[in-house]
Amino acid sequence: MKDRLDPWTVGEIKDYQNLFTEFGIGSFESYQKKLSDNRYVRRGIIFGQRDFGRIMSAIEKKEKFAMMTGLMPSGRFHFGHKMVADQIINYQLMGAETFLCCADLEAYLMRGISYPDARKIAVEEYLTNYVALGLTEKNLHFWFQSDYVMPYYRLRDMLAKKLTLNELKAIYGDLTPGKIFSVITQAADILHPQLPEFGGRKPTVVPVGADQDPHIRLTRDLAARFAGEFDFIPPSSTYHKFMRGLSGGKMSSSDPRSHIALTESPEEAAAKISRAKTGGRNTVEEQKKDGGVPEDCMVYDLLLYHLIDDDKELLKVYGDCKSGILLCGECKKKTAELLKEFLVEHQKKRLKAKATVDSILENRLRTK
Ligand code: TRP
Ligand code: SF4
Repeated sequence: MKDRLDPWTVGEIKDYQNLFTEFGIGSFESYQKKLSDNRYVRRGIIFGQRDFGRIMSAIEKKEKFAMMTGLMPSGRFHFGHKMVADQIINYQLMGAETFLCCADLEAYLMRGISYPDARKIAVEEYLTNYVALGLTEKNLHFWFQSDYVMPYYRLRDMLAKKLTLNELKAIYGDLTPGKIFSVITQAADILHPQLPEFGGRKPTVVPVGADQDPHIRLTRDLAARFAGEFDFIPPSSTYHKFMRGLSGGKMSSSDPRSHIALTESPEEAAAKISRAKTGGRNTVEEQKKDGGVPEDCMVYDLLLYHLIDDDKELLKVYGDCKSGILLCGECKKKTAELLKEFLVEHQKKRLKAKATVDSILENRLRTK
């Protein structure tokens, strides 16, 4: 049987190459030069895309385009989430109309999270951190799936007409009514920015992890089925690699040992670095002789994704690790310092974010 990407039970994705050959995701390599300001692009963390050419061309010609993505309010906001936030903010800075949804319906149906809890997490964890990281109200549309406006719900209901049960089974395997609702709602999230009520058709990019690709493929197919009714442009997407957890394996908001939250005390965070899985050897002698393996190192991951923006500086760590000049103790100490510095600054910014967060919530479109 073919592999299936399951949006609700992803562990780790071990073989990114397979996503190109089996699922038809395109490589992001050809955009690396043009978007080299972006650390995640430059370092191959954003590795795949569908139809990104449309977005690149809109950026280059300064034409209207939208960015749309959703957040699953399921727990504490950690460094894996920061990567997505940075991407959202980057598109906003490039002039995208920024559509950002809280998937509280999906959280309720698929993860058993109540609406009040989902809202609290979305506001205190996600929105506040987004704003502290640089999200502004400019061109921003934020909504809750459970509390939005009629044209969105009307589109969602119309999407049902264009789907068959067999098609959904082929994509998602075992179905439940909750899955079906989540899937169709997500398609409405992605397509509704192109409704006349939201300014009409426009290229839309959806930055996600590869686990979300089944939704993207389905939504792209759905877009085409409305030819004549709505002239949707099939949404484009980009795919990023997931950061691994601190002890290897998956980084998960429900396992505090696997992640560092952006609200964590800097000291606690630093202590987690000292316990993190590294690519170091068993003994100092061995490491001096054979060098470390940064590719297998969770400390290096933090530097690569977040803490060192200067490529030369990162390359030096990489080279010194490989050649055994740099030992894990020293490297961890330096990383812990960078981390502490970041968290102290970030947490100050969080305190100042409240007014903007309140205003985003107050001004959002919702059911009156
Ligand atoms: N399903 C996504 C998740 O689990 C959340 C989500 C909801 C989403 N609507 C979306 C993502 C639209 C991208 C686009 O994280
Ligand atoms: Fe990881 Fe640093 Fe040790 Fe290399 S030296 S394995 S990058 S902790």
